[in-house]
Amino acid sequence: MTVVPHRYYRSVGESLSVLGLGTWAIRDYRAAEEVLVKAVVEYGVNSIDTAEIYGGGLAEQLVGRVASRVGRDEVFITTKLPPERFRTRDSAVKAARASLSRMKLREVDLLLIHWPDPVAPVETLIRNLEAVADEGLARYVGVSNFSKALLEEAMAATRKYEIVANQIHYSIMERWPERESLISLASERGLMIQAYRVIERGSVALDGGLARVARELGLGPVQLAVAYVINGCSTCMALVKTETPEHLEELVSAATVRLSEGVLSKLRHI
Ligand SMILES: NC(=O)c1ccc[n+]([C@@H]2O[C@H](COP(=O)([O-])OP(=O)(O)OC[C@H]3O[C@@H](n4cnc5c(N)ncnc54)[C@H](OP(=O)(O)O)[C@@H]3O)[C@@H](O)[C@H]2O)c1
Repeated sequence: MTVVPHRYYRSVGESLSVLGLGTWAIRDYRAAEEVLVKAVVEYGVNSIDTAEIYGGGLAEQLVGRVASRVGRDEVFITTKLPPERFRTRDSAVKAARASLSRMKLREVDLLLIHWPDPVAPVETLIRNLEAVADEGLARYVGVSNFSKALLEEAMAATRKYEIVANQIHYSIMERWPERESLISLASERGLMIQAYRVIERGSVALDGGLARVARELGLGPVQLAVAYVINGCSTCMALVKTETPEHLEELVSAATVRLSEGVLSKLRHI
């Protein structure tokens, strides 16, 4: 059986699967639970992403059930809190405790600020993010949807912990992180990039140009999209979401595809 490759992520000092599973916009929580358990137990996926706002808390509850079924130590769990929670220490700690209580966990592996705050300065958010880690509620901390400039600000603002990850929209069709040199910065610093919407919600399969390039390489468009992110970026993890066993199988096989440097450099110019 195909197993998802693992990669050593320097910022957390752990080996994690290059494919992570997300929990946004789930239609059927029972089906999603079975797919997540199968992904961990049969395919070696050990990274799961969720957030306070997903399904109004139902997604975090689901992740908690999955962790208890597969064993807490078998999965690296990321959750995200909205930025306004980090405006004060008390609201950050309270929100983190509520999130943990939904997941029935003592601590989460990685806690992210879900997106930049339009009001509070980055320094305030980081101070209160660190306060959550100080309470022993998160092993690692990071950010999501931060531009390169904001990420650098966040990294400079830490006192006690490192920013270990930036979770961002990055795919073969969405190249802003390459244009902003965010991908090269991450490689230099060993920062984990959790790339989301890697298959553009399935729409990579609808792009004629991409389908043709994939065909020339003997791949399907979903395979090419997942392989592009995993092969082209040494600190990336491809975050995808599925509650369909057949899709899971396709995503897992995509995670094993190797693309040569020559192919990657051609793909970077399409
Ligand atoms: N930080 C953020 O702001 C942020 C934003 C968006 C997403 N995320 C995280 O990243 C995860 C992934 O992103 P996403 O859910 O937006 O997008 P995605 O993974 O690009 O797309 C998920 C959609 O694609 C379908 N799909 C899965 N495998 C497929 C396949 N092999 N062929 C065709 N369609 C397939 C899924 O349907 P089925 O379920 O039926 O397979 C689902 O409708 C989220 O669940 C979430 O955890 C984070």
